[in-house]
Amino acid sequence: VRPKTLADLFSKHVSREPITMITAYDYISGSWAQAANCDMILVGDSLAMCALGYESTTEISLEEFCFHVQAVSRSPGDAFIVVDMPFGSFESSIEKGVETAISLMKCSPKVGALKLEVGSHSLSTHNPDYSLKLAAELCSRGIPVMGHIGLTPQRVHSLGGYKVQGSRSAQDAAAIFETARQLKKLGCFSILVECVPHKVSQHITETLDIPTIGIGAGSGTSGQVLVQSDILGMLPGRVPKLAQKYTDLHAQSVDALKHYVADVTLHKFPDNDKNGFKIKEDVWREFL
Ligand code: KIV
Repeated sequence: VRPKTLADLFSKHVSREPITMITAYDYISGSWAQAANCDMILVGDSLAMCALGYESTTEISLEEFCFHVQAVSRSPGDAFIVVDMPFGSFESSIEKGVETAISLMKCSPKVGALKLEVGSHSLSTHNPDYSLKLAAELCSRGIPVMGHIGLTPQRVHSLGGYKVQGSRSAQDAAAIFETARQLKKLGCFSILVECVPHKVSQHITETLDIPTIGIGAGSGTSGQVLVQSDILGMLPGRVPKLAQKYTDLHAQSVDALKHYVADVTLHKFPDNDKNGFKIKEDVWREFL
């Protein structure tokens, strides 16, 4: 199969056909996203919390992350694969950021682009965020970059918690818009907008002519992304307001596993005729 290209994504954006994106963390979840004909797969650093049980996305190392990127990349299908730049792998210097970006692109030839969390461009100081400089450096080296704006979980402490961004004042909304404008100007092919009022994200989408992918950003973006473990209910408990749970895999899986445990306990599984393997009578007699 021919993997989807940036041109395919742009043509969907231009014809206002919604672009679909789902996170995946391994070969199985990657294969499910591919089989569902998702346009884009995001190997997001949410995998640290949703698949590895870390408390924060900041805990995962680049090595662990690459291992998962490779597993997702082996899933069969044509989805365009975007990979996060994990916390700690790019902040110390531009050189380090470029090195990390190259090693992530080299994880698999199926990796099509990188996603970079970006801080709000400060309107008052005109002091551009470091990640904007890095985005520019990566774009200038021919690495496709998706800028991630709004609620950026790697910066949760600077943002004062997991909160909607760009809603409190006109300046807040303007800072988000200005960051998006800068990212477009620096060469980013797309912008992921997280937890931003829908009017702001729609304005960004209508003003900048690059695809926007929203999560908690309303219906006016070019496409949507959700975390696969939220969509499928892989973990117990409620999913965030911005997500939608389409099934309850956690409950279904625990139920199925309980049946298995009961069957083994009650000697109902395995059934030698159905699940076992035979030995020829003469071989058996000789063995005895
Ligand atoms: O890591 C992640 O899953 C994300 C979300 C925005 C989808 O960045």
